[in-house]
Amino acid sequence: MTKLLTSPKCAAALLKAGKLVAFGTETVYGLGADACNGAAVAGIYAAKGRPSFNPLICHFASADLAYHYVTLTPLAEKLAAKFWPGPLTLVLPKSPNCPVSQLASAGLPTLAVRVPSHPVALALLREFAGPVAAPSANRSGRISPTSAAHVLADMEGLIEAVLDSGPCAVGLESTILDLSGPYPVLLRPGGVSLEALEAEIGPITRATESGDAPKAPGMLLSHYAPSLPVRLNATQVAPGEALLAFGPPLPGATLSFQLSAACNLQEAAANLFEGLHVLDEEAAKHGLKRIAAMPIPAHGLGLAINDRLARAAAPRH
Ligand code: TXA
Ligand code: MG
Repeated sequence: MTKLLTSPKCAAALLKAGKLVAFGTETVYGLGADACNGAAVAGIYAAKGRPSFNPLICHFASADLAYHYVTLTPLAEKLAAKFWPGPLTLVLPKSPNCPVSQLASAGLPTLAVRVPSHPVALALLREFAGPVAAPSANRSGRISPTSAAHVLADMEGLIEAVLDSGPCAVGLESTILDLSGPYPVLLRPGGVSLEALEAEIGPITRATESGDAPKAPGMLLSHYAPSLPVRLNATQVAPGEALLAFGPPLPGATLSFQLSAACNLQEAAANLFEGLHVLDEEAAKHGLKRIAAMPIPAHGLGLAINDRLARAAAPRH
């Protein structure tokens, strides 16, 4: 049985013992393991059913701690000073003799590092005092969890414990920026907008979705999938559809979830995964077979929201 914890200290002790513990961050709940313990990290891949080539983000209590594990660049220092703690992940070359398990970085010469801002996550990371590898705490291909209840619904019995940290304020995964090459590349839009990053460091290249071996395998197209199919940019509700609304809802839906009545992108981001979870669960009771998502503007956090919706709508493998 998976334990529901409230003490970061207990959670850190379990991590030190090589167990898997899910914990809340400001983005989504992460499934944590000691990043330097290969067996514990293997447990993450097993519990998630995740393809083993998909590397994990290492979480730290502070930028200074993170800097022991990667090779810093001036851009990284600038962005860390501005956005950490917060929903930004930086991919950097590993430091020489980096003790993080090869499995956590999927054998890459780089490491993805982040300092979250959630106070419970920070308390856990301070207590643990080392890198905690943590992908989102859902089984591979499922919607990311934004509450302890979501984690339990998906992973009960598969992990040791969940540290209840309340809801996730941002509600979307971190923005991932690759700073390991000659110029910065956006690997995944997320909780820090592209505009905010570009305001600090100038133009940023966006990773193209090539079919090549995954550089950011989280870019796998069918990802974040609810069990129902999703139709994007809906301007009317068809029979058999539940509505994911943004702003004044389209008429005719028997079941709908409002992302933000006032068309606030931050509010919509925070509600997105909750909305997909709720519609997925409730649709069957209403005999509905598909989710129709209203259009979301493509600026600010809208870039990340549209990215997740496009993945939810992608053909399944
Ligand atoms: O907000 C978040 O980022 C959440 C919370 C728990 O921190 N974590 C999260 O992890 O979304 P995950 O595993 O679902 O997504 C991590 C992404 C994957 O797409 C992975 O491919 C990419 O980070 N990644 C990790 N290490 C990388 C590396 N060295 N180079 C390129 N991409 C990397
Ligand atoms: Mg994920």
